[in-house]
Amino acid sequence: MDKTTYNIMPVNCAPMFTIKNHLEIRNNHLFIGGADTTELAGKYGTPIYITNESRIIENFSAYRKAFPDADIYYAAKANGSFAILRMLAKEGSGADVFSYGELYMALLAGISREKILFNGNSKTDFELRKAAELGVKVSVDSRDELHTLSEIAGSLGKTVEIAFRVNPDVSPGTHPKIATGLRTSKFGIPSGEVVDIYREASGLPGVMPAGIHCHIGSQILDTAPFTEATQKMMNLVEEVTALGIDLKFVDLGSGLGIPYKKDEHAPTPADHADAILPVFQERTEELGISPKLILEPGRYIVGDTTILLTRVNTVKKAAKNFVGVDAGFNLLIRPTMYDSYHYAVVANRAASKPEEIYSIVGPICETGDVFARDRELPRIEKGDIVALLDAGAYGFSMSSQYNGRPRCAEILVKEGKSDVIRSAEDVGDLIAKQKLPARLM
Ligand code: LLP
Repeated sequence: MDKTTYNIMPVNCAPMFTIKNHLEIRNNHLFIGGADTTELAGKYGTPIYITNESRIIENFSAYRKAFPDADIYYAAKANGSFAILRMLAKEGSGADVFSYGELYMALLAGISREKILFNGNSKTDFELRKAAELGVKVSVDSRDELHTLSEIAGSLGKTVEIAFRVNPDVSPGTHPKIATGLRTSKFGIPSGEVVDIYREASGLPGVMPAGIHCHIGSQILDTAPFTEATQKMMNLVEEVTALGIDLKFVDLGSGLGIPYKKDEHAPTPADHADAILPVFQERTEELGISPKLILEPGRYIVGDTTILLTRVNTVKKAAKNFVGVDAGFNLLIRPTMYDSYHYAVVANRAASKPEEIYSIVGPICETGDVFARDRELPRIEKGDIVALLDAGAYGFSMSSQYNGRPRCAEILVKEGKSDVIRSAEDVGDLIAKQKLPARLM
């Protein structure tokens, strides 16, 4: 599936601008999953996240088709909503989890424990104990962690299958905050120490070296770094195999980018496969081994499936035309944190002619609370609905209550029908876990 293809044929009205292929314009309104976003805003209120169920399945299927012999471990951090985890569990997805919370949710959603890898560069002893008790694989990130896990698992009489997270020293050409396999990054074991640590692990109780893991970053738009990382990883696979260790899996992480901008070219899962599989297959055949390939996509599976719907509180003409909406960076932090681009659509005037340059800003008391800068959009008035597209990955999952703002609801749509999959918080949730010492009563 080519995500750079945009549907430029709004239904029932002239195409005025292009909209991503699972979003439609009908009667000048933006539709998602067959539902009118303006009606959803009226029914459930704003701000609100809306996810198109069918699109998640399409995206997951595209990955499975591109890598028919691999296991797909969905990266739960991208969007950990329970309904989404459940949907992917039913599709047979595994999970990359990065905390006990994510592990708990993945298992509860029905993801099989055999298809879970517990990742993380700074796991607590409690988390390592839970991984051992629950029988999931662990990607070990340091020598310290290896010894802690060996002791914990040994004391429980368990043997945990482990991989080591390798730092392959590859530049993925993405935003520096989400490049994870640079030599100076906090993740993984430096390549030069990998063979030694496998040798050491094979002599320890409670742990069984069974795989190898890397992840070089996120929102990667060029496939060359995937090939480079695969080559480096397969060199290590050769060295580790030479120690007599039987590697049952090679997890090459993920990082496939999506086109947030209309003219941005992003590789597809098929391109990702072309970058990895020839190297992986050639080297495993040469070595006479048949480890399972694992991939951990997050963004590709959920990124384009979801919009954040927000209502205009105020339009102000100042040095710029500011459109103040009711969502802030507490709900979608990506533009503030990574200067990332999200396409903005005036949902109730979706096919109208662009008339003005606007900046869409949130209500938070920080200058960086800007969703969209200087965009040419149709006329905007108080009460209009603005949709921020491609908000499914690292949107709700990175939300907070900053500025005393309860988190919003999430809705799942399918064939025009909508269900609440997470209720909105209210002010009660701001106080729910807080306590007053007696002297302040
Ligand atoms: N595996 C591991 C070990 C990871 O750390 C990540 C993401 C993934 C898989 C999934 O990568 P993806 O397919 O989504 O690129 N908050 C940032 C992205 C942070 C990515 C963290 N790790 C953003 O909003 O762009």
